[in-house]
Amino acid sequence: MSPPWQPPWKAGSTLSGSRYSAMELAPDGAAAFVLDQRRLPLEEHYVTCTTVEEVAATIRDMVVRGAPAIGITAAYGLAIAARAATGADYLAALERASELLVATRPTAVNLAWAVGRCLGLAREHASSPAPARAAEMAELARSIHREDVAACRAMGELGAALLPQGSTLLTHCNAGALATGGFGTALGVVRAAAAAGKLTAVFADETRPYLQGARLTAWELAEDGIPVTVITDGMAAHCIDRRGITAVIVGADRIAANGDVANKIGTYGVACIARHHGIPFYVAAPWSTVDLATPTGRDIVIEERAPHELTHLGDRQLVASGVAVYNPGFDVTPASLVTAIITERGVFAPADLPGR
Ligand code: MRU
Repeated sequence: MSPPWQPPWKAGSTLSGSRYSAMELAPDGAAAFVLDQRRLPLEEHYVTCTTVEEVAATIRDMVVRGAPAIGITAAYGLAIAARAATGADYLAALERASELLVATRPTAVNLAWAVGRCLGLAREHASSPAPARAAEMAELARSIHREDVAACRAMGELGAALLPQGSTLLTHCNAGALATGGFGTALGVVRAAAAAGKLTAVFADETRPYLQGARLTAWELAEDGIPVTVITDGMAAHCIDRRGITAVIVGADRIAANGDVANKIGTYGVACIARHHGIPFYVAAPWSTVDLATPTGRDIVIEERAPHELTHLGDRQLVASGVAVYNPGFDVTPASLVTAIITERGVFAPADLPGR
């Protein structure tokens, strides 16, 4: 039997700052390593991508997911594309690669944001020598990764400062190290609150139908020794009522200028329950998730996902053949239900986002 595949980095040398990383770029910029989140929590396996098409497939097929994580992965895809495009058609090649990447998933704005930054650089340095272009694109992609980790750490500190001692938090989906460059947005706040000794417990919604909460959030928190209890999405109201949950903290895929928040399907319902019970509903997201060009949540494109995610559990069919299913990947929580938006630039009331 061959030994399990080992990531080609030494402990402590990932840009994520952790033992594992959702994505890393090889030192020579020739490959991206993407942790296959579909195989967690049972297996830690990295997919090696050496073309932008392979990188796009990791995003489309949910090898990597989570708004900031798909943006960083796309930037690594463009670093690979920049290395491959050695001719005079450099800019055209990078534009094609960008279109391919942006088309993979529509709701998370971080994807278009990261690709836009890389394309901006491609336009600036298109007439430079090929090796210099490739090195600059790889450096920009790594900076986008590093900046995201720094943003998560800043959000962690700002978010933890909002929480009282003895907090019990509910989170939905996975807004952790796996969904970002490292540390996490909502789970960054959880980690910082745990480090500050403020955390009593965390409840994680399993997050139907893709189970990011059960498979990923629980794995991440257990890895860090943070006590986590997985519940089904339908138990959230009961647990807020009976299990002493003091606040809800979630991430975001896109925040409209009016403070409406698109996040994983089910988030809106949790926000309604939090309001009914008078507990705060916090959203933690890097500034790259704020989309001031989108006026309201109604203007956000909601990704519709394959019926198979609902009709099957793995290979097992759960729903009778031919029955209609509807599978939106995200919903929009109105700004009026959001207590505060925690970003690396500060904590804002949703109606007071700077720059709107
Ligand atoms: O479909 P996914 O798993 O990509 O959805 C992810 C979420 O909705 C996360 O909550 C969001 O991207 C925030 S990640 C920091």
